[in-house]
Amino acid sequence: EKDGHDWFMRKEIFEQPRAVADSLLGRRTREGALHLDEMRLSDQELRDVDKIIIIAAGTSFYAGMVAKYAIEHWCRIPVEVELSSEFRYRDPILDYSTLVVAISQSGETADTLQAIRHARTQRSKVLAICNTNGSTIPRESDAVIYTHAGPEIGVASTKGFLTQLVACYLLALYLAQVKGTRYGDEIAEVMSQLEEMPGHIETVLSRADDVYALAADHVGTRSVLFLGRHAGYPVALEGALKLKELAYIHAEGFAAGELKHGPIALIEQDLPVLCVVPPRGRDQLHDKMLSGIQEVRARGARTICLAEEGDDSITSYADVLVRLPRVPVLLQPLVAVVPLQLFACELATQMGHDVDQPRNLAKSVTVE
Ligand code: M6R
Repeated sequence: EKDGHDWFMRKEIFEQPRAVADSLLGRRTREGALHLDEMRLSDQELRDVDKIIIIAAGTSFYAGMVAKYAIEHWCRIPVEVELSSEFRYRDPILDYSTLVVAISQSGETADTLQAIRHARTQRSKVLAICNTNGSTIPRESDAVIYTHAGPEIGVASTKGFLTQLVACYLLALYLAQVKGTRYGDEIAEVMSQLEEMPGHIETVLSRADDVYALAADHVGTRSVLFLGRHAGYPVALEGALKLKELAYIHAEGFAAGELKHGPIALIEQDLPVLCVVPPRGRDQLHDKMLSGIQEVRARGARTICLAEEGDDSITSYADVLVRLPRVPVLLQPLVAVVPLQLFACELATQMGHDVDQPRNLAKSVTVE
């Protein structure tokens, strides 16, 4: 049942190309337009949306952070992302023109369920992004986009996360289509880029042995930092969460630009710092990230850089270089998170931990 893998988690990591492909299947009409068949909100209802609040917990929250960047960029609709547990008990401002998007792999997370119940009492429409057919959150929502990851057994979310990202991109592109904020050919181009992602994820997985060797070097490490910017920031947070929950190692993710506002004080000799390097582009993201990497390295950190193929600027600042396929910045989380999943899974395994059932954790958290 684990397809020859030692853990469900590892099996699920390797299923990601298929899970992403399945989540993209049948989303385009013959004319090339995007359609989301389970979406029960009318185009007019979506055109009336003037604010989106995304609520989720844990890894699903990080998918929501990526969604914010995508939706705001492609659709020009303001998006807030909030932890379900915070949202529910702070009297949030909601009305009929606010769309609440609840992201939950299990569809049973109590914090998220209470949050959507509250949103509906305030007349907001709720759209669920969920992996579990017939679970409570989609049942209590106005609309749903199902992810097609298949059952996720490992407590740590992996293919659940990647398919949530795909659903978020689809939602963003669909809103752009309905609202007319992007031309059809731009949407078709991003769809084609998304359809290439399973192949790119395969490429990353084919180099798993290099990541395993890296993990072996870190047995006994007490603390690891993760840095990212833009869509790479939630990836850094997710990399840190994986390491905490599986290897029980202290790990923290930071927005690279925040370093000088405090966290850089943590840097000491040989501290491993995993850096998610944005693709080179017209913006300044890449160069800004590079200077962050230089700063931590100058203070003795051991830099492990995830950077796209052909990015030579990084070579002299990386103690270890993990290559990623060249993809657009907004889609980079789909490839960048994979080495971090492999790293945490392997490191925890080498430390003798149960990767599928980490201590103190449950697969779905049905208490608030
Ligand atoms: O089922 P959900 O997506 O609502 O679960 C949310 C979190 O509990 C979940 O992502 C958790 O953080 C995972 N263990 C992370 O790997």
